[in-house]
Amino acid sequence: MAVTMAKQLSPQGLSGVSPPCSAFLVPEKWLRTAWACQRRRAISRSVLCGVMLFALGLVSLFTGQIAADLEWSRIRGRWRSKRVGYNTPTDIWKSEFANLYHGCSDRTPHFRDAVHDSESNGYLLIATSGGLNQQRTGITDAVVVARILNATLVVPELDHHSFWKDDSDFADIFDVDWFINSLSKDVTVVKRIPDKVMRSMEKPPYTMRVPRKSTPEYYLEQVLPLLLRRRAVQLTKFDYRLTNKLDEELQKLRCRVNYHSLRFTKPIKLIGRKLVKRMRTMSSLHCYPFEVFSFFVGNLLGIISCSS
Ligand SMILES: *[C@@H]1O[C@H](CO)[C@@H](O)[C@H](O)[C@H]1NC(C)=O
Repeated sequence: MAVTMAKQLSPQGLSGVSPPCSAFLVPEKWLRTAWACQRRRAISRSVLCGVMLFALGLVSLFTGQIAADLEWSRIRGRWRSKRVGYNTPTDIWKSEFANLYHGCSDRTPHFRDAVHDSESNGYLLIATSGGLNQQRTGITDAVVVARILNATLVVPELDHHSFWKDDSDFADIFDVDWFINSLSKDVTVVKRIPDKVMRSMEKPPYTMRVPRKSTPEYYLEQVLPLLLRRRAVQLTKFDYRLTNKLDEELQKLRCRVNYHSLRFTKPIKLIGRKLVKRMRTMSSLHCYPFEVFSFFVGNLLGIISCSS
């Protein structure tokens, strides 16, 4: 269609419609008519240009559409083929690229065993701070600090007063027995200070806040003497209070805590699985690509999957 339109509006086509210029004109009107004639030529030229551009636009729109369609079906095909094994999560350690990955959390044989409760330097109490992620970092670092100090770690207390005002305790969110048992080789963890020890303590635990990113030396110089003197020290607002420059074995311990020892409790795991399952079903039935939006309303996390 564009081509026919362009033909009709071509210079020949236009000159056929417009009155002939200059030949039969009376001399006195020559200038005026010549100007009008030129103007008409200019107009017809710009019409021509416009039409050409229009035609080009149509052509590129058309080819663009085809290209987009091709691209779309290619992506869709790729996604479909990926989805075949979608419900059976692959174990990356057994995948064909497994030899390119290596675990970072296994303890090396020479990493000495945890100091037993009866021989430890005292009890380390931790009050974490911030949102759950931040608190998780705090818990991870608390284990490492207890290790540095040869202290017995008391299961950390979660933050009930921060922005979230969440009154969940450690045991509501994390599997506390698993936490204690899985770390038993590295750090002794107890649920609370034994009553006998509590009764024998002359003063309540010493409470302090250490600076952000403190080094192991800081803990050994500033916290250890207090721990030895008072038998129990509580570190408050405990988030990012340990430096990232640690020796490899301690970094590995961090990984063990974060990736192996902190497991969510059953109810949380169940609701998580349910959500993922629903999102997968909804998205595979009704839309592609599936989209997930999450939002917070007060304390609730809302998730919407599938937008179209
Ligand atoms: C912790 O215990 C180990 C082994 O018993 C010892 O070598 C190390 O010096 C102790 N560290 C502290 C800070 O007590």
